[in-house]
This record gives sequence, structure tokens and C-alpha cells, in this order.
Amino acid sequence: MKKNVTIFDTTLRDGEQSPGASLSSPQKLIIARELEKMKVDVIEAGFAISSPDDFKSIERISSVMKDVTVCSLARAMEKDIAAAAGALSKARHKRIHTFIATSPVHMKYKLRMSKSDVIASAVRAVKLSRQYCDEVEFSCEDATRSDKKFLCEIVEKVISAGAGIINIPDTVGYSYPEEMGKLISYLLENVKNSHKAVFSVHCHNDLGLATANSLSAVLAGARQVECTVNGLGERAGNAALEEIVMALNVRFPQMKTRVNTRAIARVSGMVSHMTGIVVQPNKAVVGANAFAHEAGIHQDGMLKKAQTYEIMRPEDVGISGTQFVLGKHSGRAALDKKLNELGFQVEKDKLNGLFTDFKKLADKKKKIYDEDIIALIEKDMGKRDGFELKNFEVHTTPSGSKGVVTLKKGGKTFTGSASGDGPVDSVLKAVETVSGREGKLTDYSVKSITVGKDAQGEVRLTAAFGKKVFAGVSSSTDIIEASILAYLSALNKLEMQKCLKKVKV
Ligand code: KIV
Ligand code: ZN
Repeated sequence: MKKNVTIFDTTLRDGEQSPGASLSSPQKLIIARELEKMKVDVIEAGFAISSPDDFKSIERISSVMKDVTVCSLARAMEKDIAAAAGALSKARHKRIHTFIATSPVHMKYKLRMSKSDVIASAVRAVKLSRQYCDEVEFSCEDATRSDKKFLCEIVEKVISAGAGIINIPDTVGYSYPEEMGKLISYLLENVKNSHKAVFSVHCHNDLGLATANSLSAVLAGARQVECTVNGLGERAGNAALEEIVMALNVRFPQMKTRVNTRAIARVSGMVSHMTGIVVQPNKAVVGANAFAHEAGIHQDGMLKKAQTYEIMRPEDVGISGTQFVLGKHSGRAALDKKLNELGFQVEKDKLNGLFTDFKKLADKKKKIYDEDIIALIEKDMGKRDGFELKNFEVHTTPSGSKGVVTLKKGGKTFTGSASGDGPVDSVLKAVETVSGREGKLTDYSVKSITVGKDAQGEVRLTAAFGKKVFAGVSSSTDIIEASILAYLSALNKLEMQKCLKKVKV
């Protein structure tokens, strides 16, 4: 039979402790709703005593959540526990999570308390929490640097006092997988009443081992993992929810979580957007490159059988499909696939010629967009059907913007101007005036792809021309130029579509 692992999400508490990641109350509620939909088991919604705002958002989340346990953190102190209980009062399923440090360095320098005082505070805190709430979790902060015998003693006493969940944090990300697994086994074996509680882990990522340590703990018998979306959290962050869930899913079929993995990408994107903390492109599971293949050998393998280079399907985490990135490492097979996607059927000898041109371009350009491939084909065909940007100007005043755009098509140049609500709006309207094609932006985003004041901005957009919707992407150090080029990239796909049916290159 499969063993259930409880997913305790602390994005809204430990995750929000990431430097620069503060979230407003409404944002926290939106994220909590998504976490509930994704079917995590527990949401640590905040630390009630820490601020009136935290208190209010725990209260609001508590009153709305139906299918998930809502939790508040509380130090082992009466005022913290009373605040946590107050904030959780409307929750359908609630948990108070109380903690105190147990390592020598924390007890001596931070708490200035003796071992017996720490035990007494922990027991008092758990008993008090139980007066408000049936479900109480106790954490031994800095457990992995604590004396094991002392851990056994305090854990046994808090279980007797009513704690149903015992969390063993690797607070400073100091442990390593073998050690973490052994610690959990040791506690399960040596705490007399360990069978009366669920053991949990909470690993930080200071040495990049948070996920590995959490998994090792699960294999040793822990049945709850505390984690955050995108691995947000203090310093180097916490174990990433998406990594824990997918690792259990892909490698440990004997373990089960309730999480709907197909929601992972969406929730990751939302958390990144709201916290302003960008997900690194090579981040496991949710990074932009997690399912992107550039090397020719890999692309060729992928085209033959996806499992050659993918251990999970992008669809399983809610990503629409494998991405073949065209770049200098790509091979003929990938170019041919892209050409097919764009609607071109290319004969073998033509493909060889195009491939040579493509390689030359890829040596010069970091990113190859669809528009670049279309331009190669057009060059090969000796004609250019699309619009090319020749020049643009934009004047902005507090009352609005005026854009002037000059485009070239079929050897002729055309200039048009338009007023708009801001520079991007005015130049795109000017493009419409020149092209005679009215489009509606259905999505638009700008992101910096290099650093510094001269950073390149990448614009991604989708534009609907009647019922036809096309995506466009381009980059430039000038984001107005990148916007025009991205829009032209979408518009030119429409232009190409009109003649594609006739085109057999
Ligand atoms: O890292 C830690 O020890 C914590 C506890 C409060 C659980 O976040
Ligand atoms: Zn933590």
C-alpha cells in the first residue's frame, strides 16, 4: 500500500521571509486559494504575532479555506499562542505550530535558557496550544545541530503534552542526506512515544541539499515535508515544493501526495510574479529551461523518443510541451521540426542550405526566434513577404504619446503615425495604420534578459487578428523597438500564413 506524505506549504510564512519577497494580504489570499486548489495538505499562512497584517491575512485565509488545514507559527510563548489561536479562530481545519530552539548555540546565545527551561517552555506551549486547537505541531528549531539525546527527551515530553506533529528542522541547511535520514530513524526508534506523532522535516537550502535531505527523511519514516513554492525562504530558501512532489512522484512510487502536479507551473508563475522573485532558468521542474533542449544530439533523441532526455512529461507539471530551443547547438532535425511547425515543408537539399545559413546566424545571435527562421526562408526564396521595421519615433507628454513608424514591404517603404495611451500603444497603432491590419494584444510582457543599465528587454506578446492569434517575441536594448519587432513578428506570421499554402520550399 502507498504511504501518504503530507505536504505542508510554508510559502506564505517562511517563503515570505525571503529577502525582498513581501506579499500583501490580498496576494496571500490569492496564493492560498491556488495552494488549496493544488491540494497541498497544510498552509502555514503566517506568523500571527509578527504583525497586524500577518494576523489579518491568517484570519482572512482561515475564513475562506475549506479543504486544507490553516496553520500559524507561534514561538513557545503565551502571547504568540494566543495570537495564533485568535487568527485561526474561523478556520475549518486549524493547526498551531509552536517552536523553540534546541541546539546549544541557540539556547546559550539567543535564548539564554537552560535545557530544563527550554523543555518546560515547550511543554507549556504545547499544552496551551492544545487548549485552543486539537492539532498542534512542535518544532525543535536547529534540530540538526542539537544533541540527539536532548532531542529525544524534549520530543517525548511534547508528545505527552499533546503535540501530534513533531517537526525536525534543518534550520541552517547544515545537514546532508545520510545524516538527516539517520536522525529521523534515531528519533523514531528512541523516542518512546514516537508512534503517537507524525514526524516532519523542514529543510533549508544553504548547501543546496534541502530537497535531498527532505527525501532522505521521508525514506527514513518522516511523513510530512515542509516546503515552499519555487524554494523561497530565509537565505538560500527552503526545500522546493515542486521538487519534493515530483521527486516522490517520479522516483518513489511507494509514496503518495495529494498534490495535483498539473497545477505546479501555474502556481510557480503566480508566486514568482507576486513576490517579484524570478525563477532561475535552470531551476528544476519549473525553470524556463527545465524542458528545453538545445543540443543537436538531445533534440534528435527527443524527436525519436521523449524518454531519451526527459524523466517526466512537461504536461505533468502543467507546462504545455517540450521546448526545442534553436541555437548554435541545434541540429538539422530540430530545424526541420521548427520549419514544419511554421508550416514549411522543406526538401532535403534545401534543408542543408538553410541549415548552413541557420548555423551562421546562430553563431551571431544568442536567441533565434520564429521570425529569424521565416527571414531565412524568405531570403532563400528571394523574396520578403513580411513587414520590416525601418525606423520609428515616439514623443510622449503627460497627455499621451504619438508614434511614427516606417515599415518596408516588397521593396517599398510606408510611414504611418498614431496617437496612443503611452509609447507602446502609439507605435503599435502606427504599425496598424501602415499595415492596414488591426490587431488586439491579448498578452504582453517585458522581461530583462541581460543585466545592467543597457540590459536587453525581451518582449513577448500575443496578438489576435480577427480569429487568428499569433505569438511574437523579440529583444532589444530599447523596449519600444522590441515591442514593435515582437508585434511585427506576430503580424508577419499572419502575412506568411496567407501565402504558406502555396509555399513548398
Ligand atoms: O527553519 C526553521 O527552523 C523554522 C522553524 C520556525 C520551523 O522555520
Ligand atoms: Zn525555516
